Amino acid sequence: MARADAHSDAILKVANIESYYGPIMAIRGVSLEVPRGKIVTVLGANGAGKTTVLKTISGVLDPQKGSIDFEGKPIQRLSPDRIVRMGLGHVPEGREVFPFLTVAENLSMGAYLRSDRDGIANDLERIYDYFPVLKARLDQAAGHLSGGEQQMLAISRALMNRPRLLLLDEPSLGLSPLLVKEIFSIIRRINQAEGVSILLVEQNAKMALEIAYYGYVLEVGRIVMADSCERLMQSKDVQEFYLGAKEESARGERRWKRKKTWR
Ligand SMILES: Nc1ncnc2c1ncn2[C@@H]1O[C@H](COP(=O)(O)OP(=O)(O)O)[C@@H](O)[C@H]1O
Ligand SMILES: [Mg+2]
Repeated sequence: MARADAHSDAILKVANIESYYGPIMAIRGVSLEVPRGKIVTVLGANGAGKTTVLKTISGVLDPQKGSIDFEGKPIQRLSPDRIVRMGLGHVPEGREVFPFLTVAENLSMGAYLRSDRDGIANDLERIYDYFPVLKARLDQAAGHLSGGEQQMLAISRALMNRPRLLLLDEPSLGLSPLLVKEIFSIIRRINQAEGVSILLVEQNAKMALEIAYYGYVLEVGRIVMADSCERLMQSKDVQEFYLGAKEESARGERRWKRKKTWR
């Protein structure tokens, strides 16, 4: 199994984190890395712990154990606000835009840490270039946008803070196949043109494996596979359980038998 930790220049290093909701352990012994400038994905079914991993990285949840280094600095005890200031952006699951504020106001909330007016104006122009639809809707309440537009706004708002690493929580959730393609192609552009490193969490394994360079598979709070996306795509287990190569009915039961051989 090829390992991502062969890359010395990791912008993010997560080692052995364990997080709880009250007494319930949601993730255990999760370790992963994002090399600088790359897209890395975490795949997993609903309830696997993907959102918990991202919340733990961005400081929304405190891990009970383990360490999280962003650009070589430990961040596992810091507040979400401090972590954002350091250049780590988080686009949460379900977008969470401010529904009663306009698109323009949502975007300026994203730049609240900045005072460089010219830089902000420049970044807005770049964002309108990625998402022309947002420019056309600047004065509309964000709550009136479609799901896809809200996703675009949530990504844009995070970009307004010029993050060097972006955590994306299921950007494709609830979008039409066409919009999913569009969002993913823009994510790729943002990565390539802006050099933003990306940790992408997805149930849509097909799209995520196409866009990312390295991937982890999370099941019931644990990493069960880690490999280049090229190899993950060829893996029988990934094909069967995440790319829908087999019928639904064959899934549940076999998953647990096969899982053991992954370790
Ligand atoms: N606020 C919460 N309180 C209690 N349990 C939670 C909470 N959020 C998530 N969980 C549980 O933690 C596990 C992982 O959830 P989550 O990280 O949201 O998974 P995913 O994002 O992969 O769907 C699930 O068993 C879920 O039921
Ligand atoms: Mg989730």
